[in-house]
Amino acid sequence: MFVSETHLPQLLSTAAYTDREWFDREKRRFLLPAWHLAATTDEIRRPGDFVTTTILDHPLIIHNADGQPRCFINSCAHRFAQLTQERCGNQCRLKCQYHGWEYDHDGATRRIPDAPAFKPLEKGRFGLVQLNTSTCGKLIFVQLQPSGNSLASFLGPLRGLIAEACSSEHRQLCSWSRVVDANWKLVVENTLESYHVTEIHRRTLGTMPDEPACHHQLRDHSSSFAAPGGIPGTVGFIHRQILTSLGKTPSRQYEHHLVLPTFSLSVMADLVVAWTCEPIDVQRTRLTLRGFSVQSTKFAPFRHRLLTSIAKNHLAFWSRVWAEDINLYPAVQAGVNAPLQPGSGLLSRREERVHHFQKWIAAQVAASGNGIDSQHTTGWPASRGPA
Ligand code: FES
Ligand SMILES: [Fe+2]
Repeated sequence: MFVSETHLPQLLSTAAYTDREWFDREKRRFLLPAWHLAATTDEIRRPGDFVTTTILDHPLIIHNADGQPRCFINSCAHRFAQLTQERCGNQCRLKCQYHGWEYDHDGATRRIPDAPAFKPLEKGRFGLVQLNTSTCGKLIFVQLQPSGNSLASFLGPLRGLIAEACSSEHRQLCSWSRVVDANWKLVVENTLESYHVTEIHRRTLGTMPDEPACHHQLRDHSSSFAAPGGIPGTVGFIHRQILTSLGKTPSRQYEHHLVLPTFSLSVMADLVVAWTCEPIDVQRTRLTLRGFSVQSTKFAPFRHRLLTSIAKNHLAFWSRVWAEDINLYPAVQAGVNAPLQPGSGLLSRREERVHHFQKWIAAQVAASGNGIDSQHTTGWPASRGPA
């Protein structure tokens, strides 16, 4: 069932998806202080493993030096080159590709080639910038700016669910990234409503679920959707039998949870997908999807292989569904960019999570007291709105 009994207004005007000043305010107000999913413990499993990424213009390197993930700005203390541009690799000690400075597990300078040429050198003065890092299950989150807000409080009531869905009993199957030409909020909003299913996903998902089957929850800093969605047919039966034999309760639901602003999680019977929609620029977003399936070293190899194979097949199906959405984003952005709009927009009850998301964004941006034009948060002037 939906929460709202009436339709809702589109709260953000098109300027919120196109305007650089608005984007800069979002960055300052809530994107930089947020926790961001940067990597997983499966991606840096062995000592020395590292991955690199860029979040909000911050080049990052996430390193497993001593069993504990640490995140550094990927910029050398010597003359600021990126230590490496490799997407991933293994270095027991991080080493800069330019002149070979090497760093300890905590980012302190460990070895400087031709060190006497730098004398007098103040010990401990030079090192990498380390960022706040915290894990929830296998997910490694980083904070680009300290805000005093712990990861536990950031994830709020969804923390236990996320930790369980991405626990050590799950194995990462994929990490899949695409850069799309659309404002990050258009991408997030697309994940928050089932209204587009009939039109966009008819050939994959079919039609949108009926209202009584849909369950929405709206919280201060997150929202959730649940609908029936178990694996159909014989494959589903086999999957449920295996899970039951392992003492697990097979789910017959599809769930989607958003932790504002950019992290969300889809939880299905056989598959968990962690989503990040990281803004690159006003109209450019990196969408990253990481898929996990149930596993355990206790499993008999045959059952384990079967579970993985079912999840991989399901993942291939969902890749087609996601492609249908991704193909649409540039067209949505192009319409939003039109200099003249037909009205102020309108949200159905089925889109109430979009309304909830927009309300949070508008409140965060407006709370800065930085003189945002009310047109940005309350829709277009009456003369351009619907009758
Ligand atoms: S810039 Fe890294 S060693 Fe010179
Ligand atoms: Fe979709």
